[in-house]
Amino acid sequence: MNVAMKGEEVAQAIPANVFAEKVTKVEHYTDRLFRFRITRPSSFRFRSGEFVMIGLMINGKPLFRAYSIASPSWDEELEFFSIKVPDGPLTQHLQKIEVGDTILMKKKPTGTLVNDALVPGKRLYMFSTGTGIAPFASLIRDPETYEKFEEVILTHTCREVAELKYGQDLCEEISNDPLIGELAAGKLKLYNSVTREDYPFQGRITDLIENGKLFTDLGVPPLDPAIDRGMICGSMEMIRDTKALLEKNDLNEGANNKPAEFVVERAFVG
Ligand code: A2P
Repeated sequence: MNVAMKGEEVAQAIPANVFAEKVTKVEHYTDRLFRFRITRPSSFRFRSGEFVMIGLMINGKPLFRAYSIASPSWDEELEFFSIKVPDGPLTQHLQKIEVGDTILMKKKPTGTLVNDALVPGKRLYMFSTGTGIAPFASLIRDPETYEKFEEVILTHTCREVAELKYGQDLCEEISNDPLIGELAAGKLKLYNSVTREDYPFQGRITDLIENGKLFTDLGVPPLDPAIDRGMICGSMEMIRDTKALLEKNDLNEGANNKPAEFVVERAFVG
């Protein structure tokens, strides 16, 4: 990585509100998506589902973008799932990171995709597209999610089949995990659909909600504000359209200080 500064130079340049952490793992899924893991500072606390500002030193200056933390709050490391934008100010560099490189992370996490922002319910829908699955990758590994809900339905829609792999691997890992696997058994369901390639489940999540296919495929009743809760993460357009559908079904948007039936967050690109 030629643009990022290493060692001493980084240590001198980082501001007091920033951690400098090491990359421990990088995995590329497609030419558009990859995940990476970094060391976790012992003082860093967050709630599963929150995001943080992640950055690199680029030509001597720190450049940050918001990233949802994909690992649960109990994990020893921090995981992120990222898009690769060829001329994206940060991701054109971030996609080249290797194990041992330094990643900058601002110290304060925040976010609305947290269990606390929802009123109690029975069934939790997590609607995601692309890298928008990241906060849910955190929440589906958190025992609290299964304490609060009887059923957790994660929907992940991507353009291509290969882009579904991150979420599929994760759900497989969860089912094999001695602790979370037991909590998630019979509760966690992954619903995948693809929009630009052949796949058994086809179409945008908004269309699948609107025409009812999502509910028929899952064998659950249509959205009911008395028992169903939602979290939405994807592009701005996906969030806008999915939110409109939930509102049409009488679910209201909540926030940390005003819990309600659903919450939204943008997936951050660039
Ligand atoms: P489509 O292929 O029809 O655009 P992206 O990588 O661009 O964020 O897209 C991820 C997924 O989100 C794609 O399957 C895409 O479908 C879908 N998508 C894009 N815009 C919307 C929207 N407004 N509502 C629902 N899904 C959307």
